Amino acid sequence: MLSVGIIGASGYTGAELLRLLYNHPQARVDLITSRKYAGKPLGECFPSLGGWDLTFESHEDEAVLARTDVVFTALPHQTSMDVVPRLLERGKRVIDLSADFRFNDAAVYEAHYGPHACPELLAEAVYGLTEVRGAEVARARLVGNPGCYPTSVLLPLLPLLLEKAVCPEGLIADSKSGVSGAGREASLGTLYCEVNEGFKAYKVGGHRHTPEMEAQLSRTASAPVRLLFTPHLVPMDRGILSTIYAVPCEGVTAQRVAEIWREFYRDAAFVRVGKGDALASTAYVRGTNGCVLGAVDQAERGRIVLLSAIDNLVKGASGQAVQNMNRMMGWDEDLGLRAMPLFP
Ligand SMILES: NC(=O)c1ccc[n+]([C@@H]2O[C@H](COP(=O)([O-])OP(=O)(O)OC[C@H]3O[C@@H](n4cnc5c(N)ncnc54)[C@H](OP(=O)(O)O)[C@@H]3O)[C@@H](O)[C@H]2O)c1
Repeated sequence: MLSVGIIGASGYTGAELLRLLYNHPQARVDLITSRKYAGKPLGECFPSLGGWDLTFESHEDEAVLARTDVVFTALPHQTSMDVVPRLLERGKRVIDLSADFRFNDAAVYEAHYGPHACPELLAEAVYGLTEVRGAEVARARLVGNPGCYPTSVLLPLLPLLLEKAVCPEGLIADSKSGVSGAGREASLGTLYCEVNEGFKAYKVGGHRHTPEMEAQLSRTASAPVRLLFTPHLVPMDRGILSTIYAVPCEGVTAQRVAEIWREFYRDAAFVRVGKGDALASTAYVRGTNGCVLGAVDQAERGRIVLLSAIDNLVKGASGQAVQNMNRMMGWDEDLGLRAMPLFP
């Protein structure tokens, strides 16, 4: 049985890691940490998980960091970078859910997030979009788990750029996320009355996931790619729906796009193409590691519309992190992750 630790287990992605790992047949959670809840039982932080006999510890204790085999760091950006090197020094394999290890270029990270404490680790960190970088993930000591919006945008776009089915110029992504995407830390902007019965765009033209997506799109296209990205906040708990507008290359139709996706993801357990009118909805993936894709022709307007739905806390964070752990261990990528969405 693999011994697993979660650093920053008192947040939303920490709770989701716990929920998913509870049923994992090969991994056992032996360590959970929190500053606020150190010494307290899991149920005090998450009453819904109160049936599980685990107690929070402090990640400042070096003996605690030495204990498990694989560690998930579910901390804010600019915080993971202080803990991850200490884990690697102790021979752990690490999957970091923050943005701290998603960029290979320290200058790009620093332009958007602030100074990096260990830029020397960025060259070896693998961007953990499992379906695309799975072979590198399998060998990795350190995985930078992708952002939630980037996962929803890159899964549809990367195969199409590789196949030269859409033009790298003029890409637009309009994404809508549930409120859990902002984390569990109390803040004015996520209070019930601030988000309920409203639907707003935010960080227009300035969201930090834009450079993350542009780096991965450019890597795939082997040329600089720009993306016009607008995120929106929807008054629901979880889920992301991305609507992407692209210019199709000569003769490329929605049918051809679906064929490319089916071929590219033929061995992927979690990505599927929606059928008929059931193109993509957050309801089709809620609580699961799935991603549902859809495409609609708009040839008369010189565009193709691509749709992508994920659960931000699962495929957009903790589920993809477990999927990466499975790859790192040489197990089936869907081990412990097979699930049907909640319905209704
Ligand atoms: N929410 C999502 O949908 C999502 C999706 C993809 C990626 N992510 C990324 O995943 C990471 C975790 O997100 P989340 O939504 O779980 O956040 P969260 O709910 O705010 O939880 C953050 C966790 O980090 C701990 N923490 C906060 N500040 C800390 C500090 N200065 N030093 C040490 N520990 C600290 C908190 O624990 P205590 O305060 O109890 O110590 C808590 O356990 C973030 O980097 C986020 O950007 C989130």
